[in-house]
Amino acid sequence: MKFFLDTADLAEIEEAASWGALAGVTTNPTLYSRIGGKLDDFHAHIKRICDIVGPDCPVSAESVAMTRDEIVRDGRELAAIAPNVVVKIPTMVEGLAATRELADAGIPVNMTLCFTVPQAILAARAGARYISPFVGRFDDISEDGLAQLDDVVTAIGNYDFTADTVNGEKIEIIAASIRSANHVTQAALMGADIATVPFGILKKCVQHPLTDRGLESFLKDWEKVQNA
Ligand code: E4P
Repeated sequence: MKFFLDTADLAEIEEAASWGALAGVTTNPTLYSRIGGKLDDFHAHIKRICDIVGPDCPVSAESVAMTRDEIVRDGRELAAIAPNVVVKIPTMVEGLAATRELADAGIPVNMTLCFTVPQAILAARAGARYISPFVGRFDDISEDGLAQLDDVVTAIGNYDFTADTVNGEKIEIIAASIRSANHVTQAALMGADIATVPFGILKKCVQHPLTDRGLESFLKDWEKVQNA
């Protein structure tokens, strides 16, 4: 499983990228608004993210348009920012139609706000390169987000969608709306290709109290060795 960072915060992206294990970034309108993002700086901001992570890391930038033509126009503009931009489009009728058109033009799409197997299969058939089932938001309404993710991973894995995607690539499932390290564990066990995680959760994924305790005792014992 690959780790994407779910943020628009440049400092977080810089730090996570420096750890050497980051494979991509996802943003959304809320995350951009959270950092005080301005409309006329949006494209420049996405470019800054692309420059930080480098050309091999996909960076999802979301269209907020509601009609097929507007989404396609947005998508083309976003894709022109950098070669690693992925156009993020909500799972809805106009979004599917726009995904088909962008995929046919060789522009990768991350189909977002996906909650069910039928939505995921439609996204795949429309040519999405990435599909993002949301785990935490399902949990928020007292449903089992991990079970839904598992169903999507299984259903997509049942078929070969390579003929539908940009350049015949394999579709990748992004476990999104991740709220805990356990969500990451379960997503990996069920075979999700990617987990996109907030910076705070990524830090928790690195840490464990037994690692801290073990390190502390190793350092103490090494002091003894140095003083022996
Ligand atoms: C995915 O790409 C979304 O940006 C994100 O995971 C949404 O998470 P949230 O439900 O915590 O807002």
